[in-house]
Amino acid sequence: MTALPRLQPVWLLVLAVAAIVVTGCQRQPAATSEVAPATSTAPTAAPASPSLPSSAVQAASDWTWDLPDYLPPPRVPADNPMTQAKVALGRYLFYDKRLSGNGTQACATCHLQKLAFTDGRAHGLGSTGQAHPRSPMALGNVSWNATYTWANPALITLERQMTNPIFGETPVEMGVNDSNVQQVLQRLADDPAYAPRFAAAFPQDPTGRPTWDHIVKAVSSFERALITTNSKYDQVRQGRARYTAAEARGYALFKSADCIQCHQEPNFGGQFLSVATVKPDVSFHNKGLYNLDGQGAYPAASPGVIEITGKASDMGMYRAPTLRNIELTAPYMHDGSVATLGEVIDLYAAGGRGAGKDNPLKSPLLRPRHFSAQDRADLIAFLKTLTDPQFIRDPRYSDPFPAAPKKS
Ligand code: HEC
Ligand code: HEC
Repeated sequence: MTALPRLQPVWLLVLAVAAIVVTGCQRQPAATSEVAPATSTAPTAAPASPSLPSSAVQAASDWTWDLPDYLPPPRVPADNPMTQAKVALGRYLFYDKRLSGNGTQACATCHLQKLAFTDGRAHGLGSTGQAHPRSPMALGNVSWNATYTWANPALITLERQMTNPIFGETPVEMGVNDSNVQQVLQRLADDPAYAPRFAAAFPQDPTGRPTWDHIVKAVSSFERALITTNSKYDQVRQGRARYTAAEARGYALFKSADCIQCHQEPNFGGQFLSVATVKPDVSFHNKGLYNLDGQGAYPAASPGVIEITGKASDMGMYRAPTLRNIELTAPYMHDGSVATLGEVIDLYAAGGRGAGKDNPLKSPLLRPRHFSAQDRADLIAFLKTLTDPQFIRDPRYSDPFPAAPKKS
């Protein structure tokens, strides 16, 4: 949570998103665990004229989305079209510890594939040992979010989000700053395997020199490629599997108990944004987790959207996160303060937690509900159908370094 500019009206931001190009079509590259090899043929295009804007010379998208029909493609910024070479480069960078100031931490340190890109911690632990007030978030289908992080209406692109972990100082995550930024770029430049990958991803600079702009664009492209659509829920939707009786009851309850009001299909989160979205949902909710002063206060370390907007009514407001792969992403909530799915259900049954139940800003949907033992078991059975075993093993998303030793 770096200090961010005070919020513009949300609708302006949303309109900004509307100016976004889509790389259409419905297929993704065939599964490959190999990416642009060190010896890859860097494009031999003549150096771009310096007077040309980079968009005029950047590689056209060669990407196709492989998505079920209920998941329209995400929006992609016009100045960062998806290409296979960018995704391939981004995968290396996502797993590269040299990208942190002291060389100890990569994105993947806090976002582990086997945990659906969370890390099992209530609080992220930065490269210099500082604890993050919040829990690392899952990254499956992350490109469909209208805003990023737990509670920031101003962060509307993955490109912009990425500057938080890299350069953020409150708390320090990867710890890149004025004193080490050149060193970090130099480390990448010193690895001869990177130049051809950068040149392939960004043919406008055939020298393949690492720049922050290109690093951010490549990692964001890799994040957009992190697609989870092979859970049992998906298989049932595609007619390839059937729910057990308990799962089917749990799904019905998920709808009748209003879970679906905030955790909407197909990603089971709030703020779903695709090329087909006409009016994006940009709502945040207060779930009555805290009420420190009887007037709704949340702990100062992570008070919610109010931290960005300064508006009293935004106290305790958070985005409803995706529930895809929720079985793997404990502990739960923005501060990891709920250990198990059973406790999550308890919290919803009670209509909040402790004094938080009387939080004056609590969503009206968080009212006490009677869940029988069977209801609880059914809801959890359904939530587990959102686990995608293929996603957490997919070689396209895995650490490329052990599999592809650097040749120099
Ligand atoms: C020190 C641990 C840590 C590291 C390293 C880290 N993250 Fe995160 N990540 C977090 C935490 C904690 C959050 C939640 C932040 C918040 O709500 O303020 C988060 C949130 C995110 C989100 C938002 C997801 C969503 O649904 O809104 C994205 C995207 C993300 N991280 C990508 C990255 C990338 C890319 C890198 C590497 C450049 C990275 N992270 C490095 C801990 C980390
Ligand atoms: C009013 C909107 C709303 C409703 C209704 C709602 N949720 Fe949530 N849910 C949220 C928000 C917001 C969060 C994150 C809150 C936070 O971290 O402070 C969340 C978090 C969760 C989490 C933890 C996610 C994570 O990654 O840590 C689970 C699991 C969950 N909800 C399941 C459910 C179930 C099951 C129901 C129905 C019984 C339900 N939700 C109803 C808004 C809602």
